[in-house]
Amino acid sequence: MAKIIGLTGGIATGKSTVSKMFEKEGVPVIDTDLIAKDQLQKGKPAYREILALCGEDILTPDGEINRNKLAKKIFSDKTTRQKVNDIVHPKVKDIVKTEIKHLEELEKPLVLLVVPLLFETDFHKLVDITVLVYARKKDQIERLVARENIDEEYARQKIKAQLPLSKKRELADYTIDNSKNIMETHKSFLRVFKKIQRSVE
Ligand SMILES: Nc1ncnc2c1ncn2[C@@H]1O[C@H](COP(=O)(O)OP(=O)(O)OP(=O)(O)O)[C@@H](O)[C@H]1O
Ligand SMILES: [Mg+2]
Repeated sequence: MAKIIGLTGGIATGKSTVSKMFEKEGVPVIDTDLIAKDQLQKGKPAYREILALCGEDILTPDGEINRNKLAKKIFSDKTTRQKVNDIVHPKVKDIVKTEIKHLEELEKPLVLLVVPLLFETDFHKLVDITVLVYARKKDQIERLVARENIDEEYARQKIKAQLPLSKKRELADYTIDNSKNIMETHKSFLRVFKKIQRSVE
């Protein structure tokens, strides 16, 4: 049985960056963000349920869910955020379970599951080992503002919607520092990866 590593972090702290490092080491990656994105496509059950909840003003002209508009809605309204999560999470979890089963057949020792809200949801029950990638709040805000072209206030609002990173650091088995440049992050990653490899040998 493969050991499942749950990789989490704050928004824009470097989960995708670090997941690529695991992938390079031959660890298969399941990214719940990609699965969730797919669930929002026109015609999927989650699409219909979210539309019924949020109304048509979250749609693009061609009828797809505009993720930025949906994000604006859910980050300013906790109840809607909870409802959208309740629609999307169980569906993502079912798909993750199926993907894990498929990967088990490859007989790999490790599988990486990227879950932004690992500690906020019960996704942690699916994993054996937890890894947190963190960055300073200042960097997190800078990277979020640069990548999404949003203002600082909205970036802070998005960060606030998650459990504080300090809390996640207490909960994680391993932590990877992504506050500096990518080379330093890679070193931090390798230290953690070696420890994990030793722990499953
Ligand atoms: N060490 C670093 N130095 C500078 N920029 C970085 C560093 N690590 C990541 N970034 C940049 O910060 C942004 C966020 O990184 P990444 O996408 O890996 O984070 P994430 O946690 O996956 O984000 P999300 O929560 O949106 O999925 C990206 O634009 C990335 O290129
Ligand atoms: Mg990401």
